[in-house]
Amino acid sequence: VKRVTTHVLSEMKLKGEKISMLTSYDFSMARIVDKAGIDVILVGDSASNVMAGNETTLPITLNQMIYHGSSVVRAVQRALVVVDLPFGTYQGNSKEALNSSIRIMKEARADAVKLEGGREVLESVNRILSAGIPVMGHLGLTPQSIHKFGTYAVRAKEEEEAEKLIEDAKMLEEAGCFAIVLEKIPAELARKVAESVMIPIIGIGAGNGVDGQVLVIHDMLGITQEFSPRFLRRYHNLFAEIKGAVEMYISDVKSKEFPNEREQY
Ligand code: KIV
Ligand code: NA
Repeated sequence: VKRVTTHVLSEMKLKGEKISMLTSYDFSMARIVDKAGIDVILVGDSASNVMAGNETTLPITLNQMIYHGSSVVRAVQRALVVVDLPFGTYQGNSKEALNSSIRIMKEARADAVKLEGGREVLESVNRILSAGIPVMGHLGLTPQSIHKFGTYAVRAKEEEEAEKLIEDAKMLEEAGCFAIVLEKIPAELARKVAESVMIPIIGIGAGNGVDGQVLVIHDMLGITQEFSPRFLRRYHNLFAEIKGAVEMYISDVKSKEFPNEREQY
């Protein structure tokens, strides 16, 4: 199979071919997602929420991200694998940002790293890129800044924040980022950003005018239940499916229906 590279993604934007991206955090799920033909797998720090049960993405550590990343990379044959730099491993210290990224590339064997922010993290972005490590940006609702925002509501609805976001996107492109995730911003603004830069813009809650879409796999499969933002389309109710299967198993065990004659030695 021909591997997806950052170069392939930029060609897709040129051709107007939309980029598909989903998260994965473990070997078994990543294998299914890769076999289905996804273009990009994000080992997101959303693992902090969906895998570890934390309220925010802030607690997850670099070692934990490397564990998730290496598990995913072992499963993947085709997709580009991007691993999130977790909170506290790149902000305000470009040397630490570089060291963290090098660990992700060497120990998880990822294809690229992703980090949140624009001008605030530009020095870190430059230093990581100068080591030859591809960087994906992330603007708009950046969940590592939840304590600054105070809410997970839509970002950049006002002119000032919208202008800053467009400038940040151009800054990240200029620095050499290969793509940018835009999270939960008005669709018109996201379209404008996608038209203003040559690099692919991947949206989540950013409308249809961008170059690709990303969702958290547990959300789109309906494994998580409580989280229901407008942008989330559920393709399955896996919570109910799994619960039903577990209930049948419990019932079969209790009734001694499992195992039967053919299921024993
Ligand atoms: O961590 C994550 O899952 C993400 C996506 C929502 C873009 O950053
Ligand atoms: Na993330």
